[in-house]
Parts: sequence; structure tokens; C-alpha cells
Amino acid sequence: MELDLSARTALVCGSTQGIGKACARQLAAQGAHIILMARDEEKLKEEVLELNAINGLRNDYLVADFSDYKSVKEAVELYLQSRNAIHILVNNNGGPPAGKITDATPEAFFSAFTQHLICNQVITQAVVEGMINSNYGRVINIISTSVKAPLHGLGVSNTIRASVANWAKTLANEVGKYGITVNNVLPGATKTGRLEQIIRNKAERTSQSLTDVEGEMLQEIPLDRFALPEEIANAVGFLASPAAAYITGINLPVDGGRTASL
Ligand SMILES: NC(=O)c1ccc[n+]([C@@H]2O[C@H](COP(=O)([O-])OP(=O)(O)OC[C@H]3O[C@@H](n4cnc5c(N)ncnc54)[C@H](OP(=O)(O)O)[C@@H]3O)[C@@H](O)[C@H]2O)c1
Repeated sequence: MELDLSARTALVCGSTQGIGKACARQLAAQGAHIILMARDEEKLKEEVLELNAINGLRNDYLVADFSDYKSVKEAVELYLQSRNAIHILVNNNGGPPAGKITDATPEAFFSAFTQHLICNQVITQAVVEGMINSNYGRVINIISTSVKAPLHGLGVSNTIRASVANWAKTLANEVGKYGITVNNVLPGATKTGRLEQIIRNKAERTSQSLTDVEGEMLQEIPLDRFALPEEIANAVGFLASPAAAYITGINLPVDGGRTASL
């Protein structure tokens, strides 16, 4: 099975911690040159050094805030003016705040739509020509299992994730003829800062202990544990590889069996 990504460049968004960071390290381990993108420049610098040690290359980073899609677009376009193509794009960043849909403001929907859908769109538009010219392209979107079944208490997130999944399927249909694949990875509960925050919020809201909240969440997971970020990254590493060339337009849950549908 061909998993080698030497001579490929991957742009990994939201990659200073959590799932994005694990994806960047996995793709680097497969030989790819990595461009990290997130807001915290100090963390980006530190992570580039880690990646350099993994793949022996001089990896790069871009500082950008996904709440401002124009600056994200500019950062990627500027980078591409002086560099070769980006062959692998991992669309990922921080999830929208939790809350009931009946409490959600219009601003919360606009902001999540910009951060998750419009940013995916402008980055993809910037990199797609290079993918076509290189005859190699992988767009991998980190979304959520809420694409298949809405999650309790994540009103804005559930809504926006569905739009990202349909955006991805539409894109897959358009660019497949160039050998570009577009797939969605749907993490279940994964041990990152985001999960800790969700558990803390629920404990405060319901006056339960952290252990009780965790216990309730684990009851819904057949594999009876939370995912490690590296386990989500393994799926991304495979989808990014030549071995996955005939897989496109799918939603791949990596959720320990939690989603109660096929
Ligand atoms: N963890 C889970 O259990 C779980 C489950 C299902 C789905 N997901 C989804 O998977 C994605 C990643 O989750 P995670 O748990 O890895 O999250 P995380 O630990 O909070 O990490 C988020 C990453 O995105 C970056 N980021 C956040 N807001 C940004 C912004 N406005 N502009 C640019 N970068 C930004 C952060 O870096 P900076 O702060 O440096 O910008 C960080 O590197 C999210 O969409 C999340 O909702 C997570």
C-alpha cells in the first residue's frame, strides 16, 4: 500500500494543537512538507521545529485568523506566489461554541459559516489550480459526526457542519476528473482542548462532576474510550496518500462506533 508523501506539500489548518497538530505530524511522518496555519505564532514556530525533526525538511507556517476570510485567502495566495503547489489541504479549525439552537444568535451562525465554510472555499480556490497542474490533489475536511446525526447542545455547529459536508460532496463531483479527491473525516469525542472544554461546560451547566460527565459520554461509545488525536490523524494520513486515490466524496466517522446510524 503506497502511503509515501515525499515531494508532496500539505497545508494543515488549525494545527497548533489537537487534531490539526496530530494530522500535521502524521503527514510529516509520511514524508510531506508541511505548512501549518493558525493564529498563535509562538506555537506555530515551536511546532515547525517539531515537524522539521520528523521529516528532515524545512517546514513553514502561516499566521491567519479564520474569522477573517480575506486575510486567510491573502495569506495562502501570497505563499503560493513564491512556492510550488499545495497538494494536500486539511481544512480544520476551532469548533463553534456549544449551545441550544433556540439560544443561537444570527451573528453566531454568520461567524461559524465564515470560519468553516467560506474559509474552506477560499483556500480551496487558491490551491486547486496547483493540484490540477500536479495531477495530485487531496482535500480533507475535519468536520464532526453531526453530519450524520445532530449532537445534543451543538445547535450552530450541527447546522454549519451539514453545509460543509454538502460543499465537499459538490466539490468532489467537480474536481474528480483531475484526480483530486475530497473527503470528510468525522471525529467522535477526541481528547483535545475542545473536548475538555465541552466536558467542563456540561459539568457547570448540570452541576455534575467532570468524572460523571465523562462517564455519561463514554456510555455512548461502543469502544468505551475517547479517541486520541493521532487516531483521527491516521485516517487523514491514509486519505491523503496515493493508496486512497479511488475514495472520494465520503464521510468517514472515526468515533469508536458512537454514531447510531450506518
Ligand atoms: N475534539 C473533539 O472531540 C471533536 C469532535 C468532533 C469534531 N471536532 C472538531 O474538529 C475540529 C478540531 O477540533 P480540536 O478538538 O482539535 O480543536 P482544538 O484543540 O480547539 O484546536 C483547534 C485548532 O484550530 C486553531 N484555531 C481555532 N480557532 C481558529 C481561528 N479562528 N483561526 C485560525 N485557527 C484557529 C487553533 O489554533 P490557534 O488557537 O493557534 O489559532 C488550534 O490549533 C473542530 O472543528 C472541532 O469542532 C472535535
